[in-house]
Amino acid sequence: MNNICKKFMPVLGLMGMLLFVGCDSVESDLKTPLYKTGLADNVTQTSKLKDQFPRQYDSYRKNDESTIMTEYKGSVPFRKNDNVNGLPKGYRYAQPYLKNLWLGYPFSYEYNEARGHTYALEDLVHIDRINRYDPNGLGNLPSTCWNCKTPKIEEWVAEHGDAFWKMDANHFRGKIDLKDESISCGTCHNTSDMAIELYSVPLKDWLERSGQNWAKISRNEQRSLACAQCHVEYYFTHPDNGVAAKPVFPWDKGFDPEQIYEYYNNHGPKNGPFTDFVHAASGVKIIKVQHPEYETWINGTHGAAGVSCADCHMPYEKMDGKKASSHQWTSPLKDPKLTACRQCHSDKSPEYLKERVLDTQNKTFKQLLKAQEASVRSHEAVRLANNYIGEKNADYEKLMVQARELVRKGQFFWDYVSAENSIGFHNPTKALNTLMNSLEYSNDATSLAILATNGGILNDISGDINEIVPPILEHSRALQQDPNHLDTHPWLKLLPVLPKNEIQWDGEKRLGAAK
Ligand code: HEC
Ligand code: HEC
Ligand code: HEC
Ligand code: HEC
Repeated sequence: MNNICKKFMPVLGLMGMLLFVGCDSVESDLKTPLYKTGLADNVTQTSKLKDQFPRQYDSYRKNDESTIMTEYKGSVPFRKNDNVNGLPKGYRYAQPYLKNLWLGYPFSYEYNEARGHTYALEDLVHIDRINRYDPNGLGNLPSTCWNCKTPKIEEWVAEHGDAFWKMDANHFRGKIDLKDESISCGTCHNTSDMAIELYSVPLKDWLERSGQNWAKISRNEQRSLACAQCHVEYYFTHPDNGVAAKPVFPWDKGFDPEQIYEYYNNHGPKNGPFTDFVHAASGVKIIKVQHPEYETWINGTHGAAGVSCADCHMPYEKMDGKKASSHQWTSPLKDPKLTACRQCHSDKSPEYLKERVLDTQNKTFKQLLKAQEASVRSHEAVRLANNYIGEKNADYEKLMVQARELVRKGQFFWDYVSAENSIGFHNPTKALNTLMNSLEYSNDATSLAILATNGGILNDISGDINEIVPPILEHSRALQQDPNHLDTHPWLKLLPVLPKNEIQWDGEKRLGAAK
């Protein structure tokens, strides 16, 4: 019987009985089963484990599926800003202002919906965020980008030491098998005995920093920490306070957006605020949040109750008459029977449970759009106030410092929910609370910018934001080489035209005059 069931059985009475029946097959209080594979402990190729673990391998191969959607999520890698076109290019639940909010940062070139683990490397080498046009073949991003895509990192870090992280990302193109070494068995297992074992440097660093010993962590927590190697917020260390470009998890003050934001305030240049990029329209220094699933889940209803990521995303299945953990990491809602959920909620119908998830997602998405629009408006207000030539408030500078800080904070709080992949389900209360805070910060930023100009920008910033600053649907590195494209939107006009270069990389292959 699993820990959750033990914990809830005495408390929940009848529900507890159902939990008992439902959870009996989960066996989470036993140890993770061990094997003797005869392999080294850090095998990076998935195919090498195929014959010994046919069930796990077969379900792993289901991650290749990349066409099925649920209401909000699923595995079609549509463009996350495109709510105009239909699948596979766009989707009705895309957020139209993503390119606006990341203007001046590679995320504005391309950002897609996640799909299965078996695509992680392929999608990395094709993404427009890493430069593929540089005439010298450089990606202009650190090798840290490979960290969450392959267990090969262990080998590369052993070879290059701490210098690995700041090496150019494109250096490693062609040095890896995109299909066989993408997030693979060795990502979460010691491949000699299949114990759950971390490969992730930033997670191991965090456990050490917070005084935790992997060997003493419960099996149930390990089943979530395996995912926390990647499904988390992280940043690349600024050279002023550590090993350049090394990934770090910003959790020292806690997992909530307030605490992470505070942490960032002294992890940038000279121990000042950390910044990912300067926004091209407002000039505000912005932090880009990345998929904080673990941080969101940890103090939500399920996380607090000890329900692990694997409970919902890796339910036990009967395969060839034997029980094995599903190794298809995807939306649990794709399964019409909601098998994962009904291990515990066996008294509820799949329809009821789906409806409960949707209720949270509908409400969260509505507020997400509002927070996003308020954030865009705050950038535009600060842009207008930056350029304002009329009579200013006597406290103009002071008010603008406050306004910029609130733009930064408003966008950070919006992004914490936007970049999280469950549209609120992993922690409905925190998602809505975070969005409420985001709205408040962004609206306050706009008010302060108006005040700083003694109301001078009021007319220009009032009204429908879709008309004042329309969403940018199309943008990419190639388009930024074209002055005509930059003329199509008032904010795109603020970007420099990039030098005209041919594409240098097709995935792993160096094109053209390549050496
Ligand atoms: C109580 C069950 C439950 C737990 C526990 C849980 N999730 Fe989820 N997760 C869901 C549901 C439901 C969705 C929304 C799926 C949808 O809308 O189709 C989801 C969505 C996701 C997605 C996006 C899926 C997609 O289709 O793009 C990711 C990634 C994810 N979860 C990772 C995690 C991680 C990592 C953890 C642990 C830190 C975790 N989940 C814990 C139920 C759970
Ligand atoms: C993203 C992390 C992750 C990856 C990648 C992964 N596993 Fe697992 N695996 C787990 C987790 C979590 C469990 C459950 C452990 C537990 O319940 O204690 C598990 C359990 C297992 C088990 C124990 C039996 C079972 O089914 O529960 C085997 C065997 C196994 N995995 C094999 C593999 C093989 C083979 C691969 C590569 C094809 C692989 N795993 C890839 C996370 C992963
Ligand atoms: C090595 C880093 C890494 C680890 C560890 C990892 N993931 Fe992922 N996960 C990713 C990446 C990267 C993607 C997106 C891949 C893509 O779109 O190419 C992803 C995608 C997903 C998706 C979306 C799949 C879909 O169909 O849309 C789910 C769900 C998910 N992961 C759950 C989990 C769970 C649960 C665990 C722990 C058992 C886990 N992941 C461990 C990196 C990781
Ligand atoms: C391992 C057990 C377990 C699994 C698996 C599980 N839950 Fe839960 N769920 C719980 C517990 C425990 C609670 C909290 C009950 C309480 O505190 O009264 C809960 C509460 C809920 C709630 C009410 C609170 C909220 O956050 O809205 C919903 C809805 C819910 N679960 C849906 C799901 C869905 C959907 C899935 C599958 C994707 C799922 N659960 C999987 C154990 C589980």
